[in-house]
Amino acid sequence: MSGTEPRVIVYTCNWNAYSGLETAGIQGLPYPANVHPIKVMCLGRLHPGLILQAFQHGAAGVLLLGCPPEECHYGFGNTRAEELFQQTAALAHLLGIGEERLGLDHVAAGQGEAFATKVRQFTEHLSGDGRS
Ligand code: FES
Repeated sequence: MSGTEPRVIVYTCNWNAYSGLETAGIQGLPYPANVHPIKVMCLGRLHPGLILQAFQHGAAGVLLLGCPPEECHYGFGNTRAEELFQQTAALAHLLGIGEERLGLDHVAAGQGEAFATKVRQFTEHLSGDGRS
């Protein structure tokens, strides 16, 4: 993998998803070097503008990883994350950003293999150089 490969931003919430990331690290599970995780307390606290800024700054893709359904630490995050994902996807479409460049998924606590697999699959799914 070259150092010039476009970045893939992975927003993880602080709880289940980040636990998955930590477990992947502890277990030495590989995922692409161009993946840059950013931890937020809850996916429900993100804003479409923040996600679109990642694209503006050259991100090939943005993956949102939160808690499994009904397991958000704060209760509202799963619903809010789905809403902001839909809003962001609509805006991204208007801006000509391919739908494959934005993803929403979840990882259960301690599931390092799931974290690494989902991040790897999302990255591989990006078409061409990841830009539309
Ligand atoms: Fe994980 Fe809200 S704390 S989605």
